[in-house]
Amino acid sequence: MVEFALPKNSRVKKGRVWKAPEGAKNVRRFHIYRWNPDDGENPRLDTYELDMDDCGPMVLHALIKIKDEVDSTLTFRRSCREGVCGSCAMNINGANTLACTKPIDDYQGDIAIHPLPHLEVVKDLVPDLSNFYAQYAAVEPWLKADSPAPAGKERLQSHEDRKKLDGLYECILCACCSTSCPSYWWNADRYLGPAALLQAYRWLADSRDEATGERLDDLEDPYRLYRCHTIMNCTQVCPKGLNPARAITEIKEMLFARRI
Ligand code: SF4
Ligand code: SF4
Ligand code: FES
Repeated sequence: MVEFALPKNSRVKKGRVWKAPEGAKNVRRFHIYRWNPDDGENPRLDTYELDMDDCGPMVLHALIKIKDEVDSTLTFRRSCREGVCGSCAMNINGANTLACTKPIDDYQGDIAIHPLPHLEVVKDLVPDLSNFYAQYAAVEPWLKADSPAPAGKERLQSHEDRKKLDGLYECILCACCSTSCPSYWWNADRYLGPAALLQAYRWLADSRDEATGERLDDLEDPYRLYRCHTIMNCTQVCPKGLNPARAITEIKEMLFARRI
């Protein structure tokens, strides 16, 4: 088994080791970030040895097994187990992803699990997403139209216009992209980040929305939008295969087009 080593200057220390059950032949080690706001201690990495012959295939299966059978104090978010709620987003072996759709066998050797980076931690693997949700709300993610809808009917759009929303509406707001973006790490108070900007573009791209000018005015700001430097981490990690960096470029092009 490859031994997991913490960086020399890490303030996170190795914690308790939970041994595999006697007789287990197919053992994997999970090193999991633990921090409890109530005990006054520094964060630590606890190690859990699990018998893979008695565990489901996804990283979330391992976490649930630990919580159910080994250590009920381990705290993490999860809901759908299907990659649609976004709540199990975490950093697994250095990359943000969804624990429920990530196979354990995608990794060799030990697996290290941390909360999404550069966010305040509520407890263990649970990050504080208040700012992230506030930024989502700030882009006013709903249809805005002054003209009345056709009497007794919904607002229709052509198949071509509907297709323009593909690659945008599927976002599950897991925050994997924003929390892997260096610009967001340093300026999360002012830069909206790739997730909120992809959502902003989802409404700019919607043929039924009539607030394009107002939406662009709100985005035209050196921090809110232009802190994106096209580093592309966001697109690389999106577990739904979306391309927030392209959505951001589309917004910049819309702003450029209205200037000429
Ligand atoms: S764009 Fe992808 S990574 Fe970002 S919040 Fe949406 S689903 Fe998650
Ligand atoms: S492309 Fe923009 S939003 Fe995506 S990681 Fe890079 S700087 Fe962040
Ligand atoms: S539990 Fe819903 S996305 Fe993983």
